[in-house]
Amino acid sequence: MCKGLGGIVSPFNNNFGFSMKTTADYDEKMLYPEELEFLSLKAVQKRRSEFCIGRSAAHSALSKIDINKFPILKGANNEPIWPPGIVGAISHSGEIALAAVARKENAAGIGLDVEMVDETVSMDIIKLICTIREAEWVVARKEQSLERLLMVFSAKESAFKAFFPLMNEYISYLEFELIWHEATRQFEGRLLTNIRAGYGEGYTFEVGCKKFAQYVYTFMSLPPV
Ligand SMILES: CC(C)(COP(=O)(O)OP(=O)(O)OC[C@H]1O[C@@H](n2cnc3c(N)ncnc32)[C@H](O)[C@@H]1OP(=O)(O)O)[C@@H](O)C(=O)NCCC(=O)NCCS
Repeated sequence: MCKGLGGIVSPFNNNFGFSMKTTADYDEKMLYPEELEFLSLKAVQKRRSEFCIGRSAAHSALSKIDINKFPILKGANNEPIWPPGIVGAISHSGEIALAAVARKENAAGIGLDVEMVDETVSMDIIKLICTIREAEWVVARKEQSLERLLMVFSAKESAFKAFFPLMNEYISYLEFELIWHEATRQFEGRLLTNIRAGYGEGYTFEVGCKKFAQYVYTFMSLPPV
């Protein structure tokens, strides 16, 4: 099924490790026993597959920054536990998984999210995830509104993954706002609340957004501190 899907080229610079895996790569033998312990015996096949190819993409991304043989465990809030001095993110959807990592000297946080376009995004979530300004952008072009909503949703999931490890607390969808710039095809993000020292209200960041086959993916990194 994944034959011919090709691959996503790293959207990050060469200091970052990036990898994509597909369900064609699924093989539980690629995981460390400590990682497999996070898969409940009751996990359905889809969950086994996405967890496995996500971890495999993460191992491969780490190897690109010369880190090998490191099992990636899970924290109390399901976040991946990266090797000391490393930040990263994992995402999976449909048949693909993506992972990106970097040394803290190159990034304070990484966000990455992939969503399958025909997977159920309902306009109903617009009020939950969009500020008034974002909602206006989403509905401004009727024929693109579902795709725009998915772009905002994915960009917010990316931002969540980048910021979460910095504070170990959940940030809500409405605690930051995204403005789309068509020329650069990226969102300009702005914090609407104070998250922690160095990331106060008004802090800005960029979230890139691209399409690949039937997927939308978003990516970002926070500058090193
Ligand atoms: C965690 C979350 C971002 C995952 O996003 P998703 O689109 O459902 O799924 P993805 O495949 O893209 O990402 C899943 C991966 O995210 C990572 N992840 C999970 N929790 C995380 C956290 N707290 N911080 C960072 N990464 C996390 C994991 O690696 C997970 O994969 P794994 O379970 O195989 O290890 C999302 O489910 C979630 O819970 N969001 C919080 C809800 C919320 O309030 N969001 C506000 C966003 S502004």
